[in-house]
Amino acid sequence: MKSKYVLILICSFLIFSCEIPENTFKPGEVWLDNNGVHINAHGGGILFFNDTYYWFGEHKTEGEAGNKANVGVHCYSSKDLYNWKDEGVALSVSNDSSSLIVKGCIVERPKVIYNTKNKQFVMWFHHELKGKGYDAAMTGVALSDKITGPYNYVKSMNPNKSQWPLNYPDSLKSLSPNLDGFKRWSEEWNKEMINGAILKRDFERGQMARDMTLFVDDDGKAYHIHSSEENTTLHIAELTDDYLDFTGKYTRVLINKSNEAPAIFKKGEKYFMITSGLSGWKPNAARSAVADHPLGPWKELGNPCRGTEEEVTKTFYSQSTFVLPVQGKQDTYIFMADRWTPENAIDGRYIWLPIEFENNKPIIKWQDEWKM
Ligand code: GAL
Repeated sequence: MKSKYVLILICSFLIFSCEIPENTFKPGEVWLDNNGVHINAHGGGILFFNDTYYWFGEHKTEGEAGNKANVGVHCYSSKDLYNWKDEGVALSVSNDSSSLIVKGCIVERPKVIYNTKNKQFVMWFHHELKGKGYDAAMTGVALSDKITGPYNYVKSMNPNKSQWPLNYPDSLKSLSPNLDGFKRWSEEWNKEMINGAILKRDFERGQMARDMTLFVDDDGKAYHIHSSEENTTLHIAELTDDYLDFTGKYTRVLINKSNEAPAIFKKGEKYFMITSGLSGWKPNAARSAVADHPLGPWKELGNPCRGTEEEVTKTFYSQSTFVLPVQGKQDTYIFMADRWTPENAIDGRYIWLPIEFENNKPIIKWQDEWKM
């Protein structure tokens, strides 16, 4: 009798102490890392390197104040995308109040790419200055020789200072913008915005760069895609060969269509983009677009989500952050999005769903649990 109890005790101990590896995605649930802690990598992106996926994202903390950069950018690694190992903080905010990246500033949507020429990992992120809300609209860059970091902060900027977009007509360059007295979204206001009122306002100091992503093409050219012109127009800008700066070559994309949260991927010869509208932390309907070149022109394809009215108009209560091409599986892409919880930032959840294609358009459907 006694030995039976001992056996039951040993078995229960073994069952509870053994980590059962994950083999499915459960969108919206708590995703535990190897230490049993909810993954802290919001607004993130993934870099595949040496047979391993590295996930970088905003390290959020508790409460509403946890939306600020109190810690930095967190990194996790995985071989299979289901099980994640905590690799620690890749980019730390500074305690030095004279640093632009001081604790309490805003660091959002970090993305890391690998520069094969210099064998360096380059991280870009949306950067707002401490105490200045979202006014600075800058993009920041950090650098490391090791994928997991530590990344050294290099600089932040408003890109493409004194450069006209490639697709900006000469005839508009000489006109003076005038938004005075026009009601936002009125016909006159829209006309001025389309004609580049904000682009011109920011011409000398550099353009606004808020929600952003990076995309590296097959030829090694990297592009920085960001919400500009007071979030009304996306700018897609080429980076220099070392990925540390802008070449000055850029286009205005989906002009005055108010896109945020851009995510770009390539399938065959086509480039696809998934974005959101503008409603802050609150979810709205996703959009999609297609192009033959990262710099465009981009053609709108509509809302990629399918499901109930509520799911389709709220993107399953989430906002895009990245599209991951799964290695070794042809045409397999994962839509990665954030379900924000601004009142307790650290609790934000991850919505990862497979991308299907119908009539050459990306389609996303809800799944409670799924595997590749
Ligand atoms: C969202 C944006 C997030 C964050 C948030 C702040 O629209 O996508 O990255 O900036 O606004 O309200």
